[in-house]
Amino acid sequence: MSVAAKKRENYKPLLWNPINILLDFQIHKNYSFVKSNILFEKNNQNNIQNVLLESSIELNGIDLETINLQISIDNKPFYNLDIKTIFINDELISIPIPNDAVTVRILSKVKLYPSDNFSLEGLYESNQMLCTQCEPEGFRKITWFPDRPDCLSIFKVNIEAPISFNTMLSNGNLIDEGIIKDYNDKSVRHFKTWNDPFPKPSYLFALVVGNLEVTSSTFTTFSNKIINLEIYTEIGNKHLTGYAMKSLKKAMDWDERKYGLEYDLECFMIVAVSHFNMGAMENKGLNIFNSKFILADLNSATDYDLQNIEAIVAHEYFHNWTGNRVTCRDWFQLTLKEGLTVFRDQEFSADMNDRGVKRIEDVILLRSIQFPEDAGSNKHPIRPDEYMEINNFYTPTVYEKGAEVIRMIYNYLGEKLYRKGMDVYFNKFDGKAVTCEDFLKALELGSNLNLDLFKEWYSQAGTPTLNIKRVAHNNKIVFDLYQTVNEQKSYLPIPIAISLIDKKGDLVEFSINNSKNEYEHVYLLSKSNDKIEISCHEDAVVPSLLRGFSAPVNIKTDLTIIEYLHILKHDNDSFNKWEAIQNLYLSCLENEENISLITSILSEFLNKKIISLSLIAYLLELPSKTVIENLSNVSDPIDIYHVRRNLIKKIGLSLQSVFEKTSSNLMKNDINQTNKTGERLLLGKILNFLVLVQSNIGIKLAEKISLSDNMTLSSIGLKSLCQGDSENSLKYLNNFYSKWKSNSLVLEKWFEMMSTLNIDGEGLKLIKKLLFHKAFDYKNPNKLRSVLGSFQRENTLLFHANDSSGYNFVSDQIILIDIKNPQAAARLILPLTRFNNYNEIRKGKMKQALYKIYNKKGLSSDLSEIIAKALK
Ligand code: BES
Ligand code: ZN
Repeated sequence: MSVAAKKRENYKPLLWNPINILLDFQIHKNYSFVKSNILFEKNNQNNIQNVLLESSIELNGIDLETINLQISIDNKPFYNLDIKTIFINDELISIPIPNDAVTVRILSKVKLYPSDNFSLEGLYESNQMLCTQCEPEGFRKITWFPDRPDCLSIFKVNIEAPISFNTMLSNGNLIDEGIIKDYNDKSVRHFKTWNDPFPKPSYLFALVVGNLEVTSSTFTTFSNKIINLEIYTEIGNKHLTGYAMKSLKKAMDWDERKYGLEYDLECFMIVAVSHFNMGAMENKGLNIFNSKFILADLNSATDYDLQNIEAIVAHEYFHNWTGNRVTCRDWFQLTLKEGLTVFRDQEFSADMNDRGVKRIEDVILLRSIQFPEDAGSNKHPIRPDEYMEINNFYTPTVYEKGAEVIRMIYNYLGEKLYRKGMDVYFNKFDGKAVTCEDFLKALELGSNLNLDLFKEWYSQAGTPTLNIKRVAHNNKIVFDLYQTVNEQKSYLPIPIAISLIDKKGDLVEFSINNSKNEYEHVYLLSKSNDKIEISCHEDAVVPSLLRGFSAPVNIKTDLTIIEYLHILKHDNDSFNKWEAIQNLYLSCLENEENISLITSILSEFLNKKIISLSLIAYLLELPSKTVIENLSNVSDPIDIYHVRRNLIKKIGLSLQSVFEKTSSNLMKNDINQTNKTGERLLLGKILNFLVLVQSNIGIKLAEKISLSDNMTLSSIGLKSLCQGDSENSLKYLNNFYSKWKSNSLVLEKWFEMMSTLNIDGEGLKLIKKLLFHKAFDYKNPNKLRSVLGSFQRENTLLFHANDSSGYNFVSDQIILIDIKNPQAAARLILPLTRFNNYNEIRKGKMKQALYKIYNKKGLSSDLSEIIAKALK
């Protein structure tokens, strides 16, 4: 179990490169054969020979039933390799190669059992369909290969299967197909051959075989190439691909306009599968998606689902350049492609929707999942220095904080220079596997600006705290700035976007340290302490700081309640309006008198509609439980649950009549039309308040729309009912179940809501029953998340029950899941490791549940890495 950690500093380039590989898949009902033929050539770059004394080829392989393995050196006849003599361990073989060899060819044949593969990594079966997931290290479950991202090969793939599978896909372009005369005359078989002309790392390989339906369309690129677009689904779901197809075209168009990037192959295919560990995967020319992020229509998908589909389709498409054409040298560099691609998809979504609201959504996500990670046992820099199991490092830190770092650099360079830098990046590194330094170097070359300061963000873990205090002198304000990280002085470059708002509520011009007058300045703090002097003509101005959340930090200021109210009312930066009300809400936890100050502004917004409905909706969102928990060193989730709920009630009571009026007005306005997303978002937030204060009007309305044919309305109705009387909500959830019992994806929503219930006398029993429900499927991570994920996230009282029953329930389940799917187990356990801010008694209980798992024999390295860190 004590697998040694891999360290970034130990990177060594390969001496032998697999420059091309022929793969031959023979698919049978209960097993498959994979033959591979790999040509290796010596890497003559950088005098690697001098670095590596011994010449050998290392191949990874996991769970492969090896039928034969042969080698030929410099075109001499093949000879069989005796596996036993070259085994390093059962997952790695090392083949000595004579120093004077020029080319090496390795042939192998292995037998796989995809229907017994529940890890959803390598080649596996999902509802009769065979599909692959190779990132990061799944290719080694398919064939013997140097399975690392820095060796790029040309793949040619032949697939042969019974004719009952109408679809056989792999990366690149289709170059041959035909019927095979069957030797036994039993069943007819056919084949397809795919060739991907672009060298790629093995993690981007993909294969899909099944009996599927396809939706086709085309996209014409800016150089007038016609690309075939295809979305494959299980039979019966073809009608649900329209939104994903539209999103794909928008993404292709956006990448051409924003980055000048054109798609490179003849076709772009997406396959939706039911069993998938993550959201989606960017395999070259053949993306594989969790069907949840493809299939949708207005009856079965919410506005939120549609927004996710648009963003994830775009994200995976954008990887074609940031990830595939330019890839990572090693997995420590993961943020090179993920942080950058998240930044790209965030900007895409901001362009397609409301930019200000998108920023708020991104920051909510960052604060609710990344900040806690950065303060907990699995904290790491966006580029980690070591790991045991790379699957555990697809984290909010690598992704979301990584994207924040790119965003800071983007804002620092400005749109034009950033684009020049990106052009250099693609020109210089196309077809290469590179590092984060290479990326920064390209940006420096393109922009002629130095980015040395920003490098620190790649190696520093923890969320910095930025303290800002003011001293006012006449018409000067002096800001005292001070930054720390992990309670120590820090020197990270922090761009602070600043504006000043005058008494009337308008922005005023000002200068910082005698620079030129502007309405917004971005000051780059790069020292631990600093003072800046602000001059402007007005007095009594209110500073709007860290606008647009210009850096991923905790900020502490001396702004007063009155000043926050002023910002909430007048700031033209949506994010800071929202940030102001977050601070105001938090102030109510100490001083309830502030509630009326906030609600009077909210009712003005609700009555006058001077800002967008979605922005109002987000202003009605209180700081999350996680955010409140992290405010103090010792907190208790149950107390916080009650405190937060009481505050929501008080606000609900104070705004009850405005909310009731607004909700019925919203209903009058064809609220189920496609484009009424802001209306629905707002209605949802309002109903949460109304149900909690037991407003009759609110409850009736929630009950009514829970029966709607519009999925967004139906789900906001049900979710708000779940805030109130659990027994009543169960009635409506049963109804929802009957309506949707044959739609597996919609049932995930039902499982999610059911898992938040706490019915007298039933309690945890109800949740446990869900796991035996006929629609539940242990092999399907979506179902696991719907029950165990929502239970831990939303069902505070049962999960944190004082008798530890919630913790024990989760840990028992995790033990079972780990046997089948370690990656899923290692993700689902995370809430149980977030106890840093809890009192000793609760910490003890949570740790006890972790020990129970940890002491089991045969735990996966995924799970044991996470738990070991939490228990340390
Ligand atoms: N490359 C990842 C998918 C992946 C990650 C596969 C880890 C296997 C292991 C993909 O590009 C990705 O980042 N997907 C995200 C969604 C995205 C919108 C952030 C996911 O799957 O959650
Ligand atoms: Zn990604």
